Amino acid sequence: MRTGVFAEKESHVHVASRQLLLDSSETLPEPLGGVVATAGGKPGEVAGVVQASLRQHGAAVVELEGILSDDDFRAFGAHLGNAMPETDPAVQPFVTDGVILNLVTRHAHTADTSLQPFAENSLSLHAEGSGRTAGQQPRYIVLMCQDPGADPASAQTVLVPMSDVHQRLSPEHRAVLSRTRYAHLPAGETILRELDGRPVFAFRDFLHDKLEWVNEGDDSDDAVDQALQALLAGMYTTGATGVHWRRGLLVVIDNTYFFHGRTAGVSSPAHPRHLKRLRLH
Ligand SMILES: [Fe+2]
Repeated sequence: MRTGVFAEKESHVHVASRQLLLDSSETLPEPLGGVVATAGGKPGEVAGVVQASLRQHGAAVVELEGILSDDDFRAFGAHLGNAMPETDPAVQPFVTDGVILNLVTRHAHTADTSLQPFAENSLSLHAEGSGRTAGQQPRYIVLMCQDPGADPASAQTVLVPMSDVHQRLSPEHRAVLSRTRYAHLPAGETILRELDGRPVFAFRDFLHDKLEWVNEGDDSDDAVDQALQALLAGMYTTGATGVHWRRGLLVVIDNTYFFHGRTAGVSSPAHPRHLKRLRLH
């Protein structure tokens, strides 16, 4: 077993690719080829439409006939899984009913990571809860647009298929990633795993923060470093799509099929963007 630290360098391929994808105001193609199902206002009906799409695509993009109330939003979520409580003290002003996070753009660009979901910053690609064990990670991230804000083309929610990223990795890089985990996680909770015969990643782009890792095999420091660089390069150069938010749009992401992130936004105090989020497991 080996331990080490991965630190991003300016020269890494993914740094320029990330800038291009998330911070250059690019308008991305919509997820699922822009195919949008519509659903009425009943939670059970919406859940039926969403479940069919999740089975087929690992994501769902649904146009609602009307915004769901918080009660109906939670009732919809209950068809897919158990809502995870929002416990972070920093986000409590934005939480309703203990489980709904109101993502409202309130801040200009900030270095405070706990405020970044509510700021103009782009959000680097990640699997939700990558720092937790697989059993503690949400399976679905649900986002419903209450108000797209003054500039709907900004702050696109970005989806990148894990299967595409996996395909771009060499067999050697895949093998190393399936033997490497975050240092604080228990044995077996590796960055690359298999679920129902599919490759699944539990990984976040830490940006400028260091990633402390443990390798459960005997791969060299250099081999782990190269594999993580290849993973990051793959994440930022592979089939990204972006949600163009509009009122009543509901997007559900299966956390075992897609990495997600967000392009940079523009805060408009007079007309902020407002998404509602549930995390389900
Ligand atoms: Fe996220």
